[in-house]
Amino acid sequence: GTVLAQSMLPKLAVKSTYRVGFAQTESNNPWRLAQTKSMQDEAKRLGYQLVYTDAAGSTAKQVADVRSMIAQKVDAIFLSPREDKPLAPVVAEARKAGIPVILLDRNIDPALSKAGADYVTFIGSDFIKEGQRVGDWLVKNAKGKTNIIELEGTTGSSPANDRKTGFDGVIAKNSSFKILASQSGDFSRDKGRQAAETLLQAHPEANVIYAHNDEMAIGAISALEAAGKKPGVDVLVLSIDGGKEAVKLVVDGKINYVVECNPRFGPEAFKTLKGYAAGTKYPAKVINTDRDYTAQSAKTGLAGAY
Ligand code: AHR
Repeated sequence: GTVLAQSMLPKLAVKSTYRVGFAQTESNNPWRLAQTKSMQDEAKRLGYQLVYTDAAGSTAKQVADVRSMIAQKVDAIFLSPREDKPLAPVVAEARKAGIPVILLDRNIDPALSKAGADYVTFIGSDFIKEGQRVGDWLVKNAKGKTNIIELEGTTGSSPANDRKTGFDGVIAKNSSFKILASQSGDFSRDKGRQAAETLLQAHPEANVIYAHNDEMAIGAISALEAAGKKPGVDVLVLSIDGGKEAVKLVVDGKINYVVECNPRFGPEAFKTLKGYAAGTKYPAKVINTDRDYTAQSAKTGLAGAY
């Protein structure tokens, strides 16, 4: 892709209220519900109209959802792209239609879309760092458990790519650890359970499961219990997201470590929208802060979990 000048970005008028699109990717887990609620609450607080769509796990539907927002001439679009390549064309279409886009949570392949040119900025977590933090915790706390099964998120999504890159990078530097198998569970509880079941049969020596999100970790706990293994004891369970259900499982000792992925986007997203209208220049990425939950901190942390 060609790098466009900053001036190519559509302007946003300073107004007392806006009609803004939010193209959500799916609503099948607590993380997504928390993100949507945060966006809706903030829109309501500001008296803005939120044009909300749910792609229900279909990238093709999300492309159509964004096109429909363009046709409805919304003032701006917040987009959480399900996959990192197929949404690039509609981001360009919005720009050509004079509608600024702000990416939330998931990114688009930087070879296809550029911050400051095709879209205003990306707001979200550093997914590589999330994966690294899980890897670092494991290296410090493994106590001899070194045979890893990895459950990956949705294929072609930036969190799946980056959480793998971050974690695998730490593991590659520590020769005593081994990733026995790595397979997609599509960020879903049931697909995570099925993948864990198959991989545990093929690799009975596995004693660590790293899941790219809570839902797959919870699925993996079911698979472990069905196989007669004690999650958190026989097999360490590590995940990312930090929803209440997973943090409770840390308290119960079935999950050993969770890195939060902060879903509270509303205030930052709308502040950025207003700032953009007022002429503020944004960096390519605005990074959210993520907490973490260990056996020591989960009990007190539970109150702040979503
Ligand atoms: O993009 C963030 C990921 O998407 C969350 O970890 C996952 O639970 C969600 O579906």
